[in-house]
Amino acid sequence: MAAKGLFLSFEGIDGAGKSSHIEALADAFRAAGRSVVLTREPGGTPLAEKIRTLALHEPMDALTEALLMFAARRDHLTQVIVPALARGAVVLCDRFTDATFAYQGGGRGFDWDSLLILERLAQTLSAPQADLIQKSLVQPDLTLWFDLPPTVAAQRLAGAREPDRFEAQPLAFFEAVRAGYARRAQADAPRFARIDADQPRAAVAQAVHAAVQTRGYV
Ligand code: TYD
Repeated sequence: MAAKGLFLSFEGIDGAGKSSHIEALADAFRAAGRSVVLTREPGGTPLAEKIRTLALHEPMDALTEALLMFAARRDHLTQVIVPALARGAVVLCDRFTDATFAYQGGGRGFDWDSLLILERLAQTLSAPQADLIQKSLVQPDLTLWFDLPPTVAAQRLAGAREPDRFEAQPLAFFEAVRAGYARRAQADAPRFARIDADQPRAAVAQAVHAAVQTRGYV
């Protein structure tokens, strides 16, 4: 029987250091014989990548920003994520819907309940896609939340490159984003693994591997 699709998302404030750990996990899944799809949000399809460029660089109000994030997500979900899950792949997604709650909800202060409505709309499938993965509302199976104090993340990012609209925000914004992630993690604890990202890289890598192994995923 073909392997069941697996959907993992990776979250955290800018500078949390997710990228190298996502790559390492992809290698671990491939070594275990799994087909892996590495993707990101906003983005992951030609349309969603165009939306990403707009959302990260053009001035806009909070509702426009939230709607663009969910529009990009809808396209990504239906074009890439669901087909990959349907063929039994492991989908490793650098950010997903919790980022919208953390950044647009926590960071920008956009109404949380409205985000819950948009989430339901954007992540609900109809036939035949719902039948393919036997799910109508899509959420990650596991979300790895790389958590660390914004002061530490800012030090890591300092001078790295030209900041986008989010990276250019002050520390208070990232405190609010962090609080947004904490709220999401509390609301759906079984889906979340909090990774203490304020540790040496090897210790973080070990924590990431343990979170996935504990659940019998690799
Ligand atoms: P990120 O994924 O961190 O990519 P990079 O490492 O190339 O900067 O950048 C995406 C930015 O978009 C990040 O600052 C968080 C933000 N974002 C939102 O505000 N809302 C969302 O729903 C998503 C997915 C991302």
